[in-house]
Amino acid sequence: MIVVSNRVSVPKAAGAAGAQGGLAVALNSALREHGGIWFGWSGQETEEFTGHLDMQRNDGITTATIDLEPQDIEEYYNGYANRTLWPLFHYRIDLTEYDRNFGEGYERVNARFADSVLPLIEEEDLVWVHDYHLLPLGSQLREKGVKNRMGLFLHTPWPPTRLLVSLPFHERLVASMLEYDVLGFQNTEWLESFLHYVQKEMGLKVNLDNSIEYQGRRVIARAFPIGIDFREFTEAAQGAEAREAHDRLKSSVRGRKILIGVDRLDYSKGLGERFEAFGRFLADNPQDAGKAVLLQIAPPSRGDVASYQQIREDLERKTGHINGAHADVAFVPIRYVNQGYPRAQLAGFYRAADIGLVTPLRDGMNLVAKEYIAAQDPENPGVLILSQFAGAAHQLKDALQVNPHSTEHVAETIRKALDMPLAERRDRHAKLLASVRENDVQRWREDFVKALVGKNAVRTGTTEHNEA
Ligand code: G6P
Repeated sequence: MIVVSNRVSVPKAAGAAGAQGGLAVALNSALREHGGIWFGWSGQETEEFTGHLDMQRNDGITTATIDLEPQDIEEYYNGYANRTLWPLFHYRIDLTEYDRNFGEGYERVNARFADSVLPLIEEEDLVWVHDYHLLPLGSQLREKGVKNRMGLFLHTPWPPTRLLVSLPFHERLVASMLEYDVLGFQNTEWLESFLHYVQKEMGLKVNLDNSIEYQGRRVIARAFPIGIDFREFTEAAQGAEAREAHDRLKSSVRGRKILIGVDRLDYSKGLGERFEAFGRFLADNPQDAGKAVLLQIAPPSRGDVASYQQIREDLERKTGHINGAHADVAFVPIRYVNQGYPRAQLAGFYRAADIGLVTPLRDGMNLVAKEYIAAQDPENPGVLILSQFAGAAHQLKDALQVNPHSTEHVAETIRKALDMPLAERRDRHAKLLASVRENDVQRWREDFVKALVGKNAVRTGTTEHNEA
């Protein structure tokens, strides 16, 4: 198996700190089980691109990475990936920048990826490409003669056709994706948007099993909702490092209720709206002033992109404003932390928290919601408040689902969560836990690989596991 993604990030055995997204978390687990090579960008800059492969073996995973030139990083990573596709795919055309140089840089780096990974691909290998950075990689590899089975999994949402058509050369981009054998999405909503596009904009035929007829081939398109490594995470949650983190956080709040948010510092995560909702909760519930703490862990991400600098400033202002209004000499309601923590410690923090606040404005899946559930004590679990716009909302029906744009709704839901009787908390948690356990990362990988291998791959309808 050759796995290709922009970022290759192998955590140390205990789990790395930092701004790891869902992709890194999931691929680490998948590769450890399956073996193979993980190819991508080293995250490093080189003056002139050489294509030199740095091969390493770490923690049971073989990685092969290349360095990129400053212009590549600017046009491909900061540019097309994170100033064009990321905001567009998260429904933020107000933040989307369309610049021809970005598009050219994106094509160039995808071609560089293709040239560099080519010598690693052997005849029977499956090639599994990940995410919005590398949509045209499959077609680039086909042009170089690769006949292997190739699949793409998109970790982000896929936007509605009406938004996507604002992208110059949108059709060329989508046509390049149809060179893969399998296209995977996080849920049926994004899958349906994609199928809508190929039908309406390209006039292609979509079969009952959602396969797409394209130039005499059948491209499988399906939802494969990603999960967490349930066993690894629950073990980490029960270990000494997690317990120590749990106790440290608990003792620091002196009996107050804890709400926790853990997100990369990204505008898609709805952090500003979340802070405002918490401020509203404090204003509406003066009897609770001083009795609840919001711990927001938000490691910075993509700091060279202006919209990320902007969201960081906004959040600093909002935190200062809310803390200024509701703090007293011995207490601050929002603890806002710009750093990442090892996963075992995070598990301890989740377990200590009475409420998991996962309120993105748009999110492909959101694995924090699943980790929060997995880390709870089933006898006395916390309550998950989950945005209806996270991909995870399709599966986690027993969370308290909210519209993250409505500060009133989120504030009322915080109240409801704090008041929820133990029996209801246990009941909801048991159902959520069953879903998180069943739809874990191993199942995601097995399902995708089965479809990629091409045996028993095609199911009918748009069925997703556990999706009512
Ligand atoms: C999301 C994306 C990933 C990305 C991660 C972290 O999870 O889907 O592809 O790796 O964010 O973002 P970064 O830009 O730091 O890689």
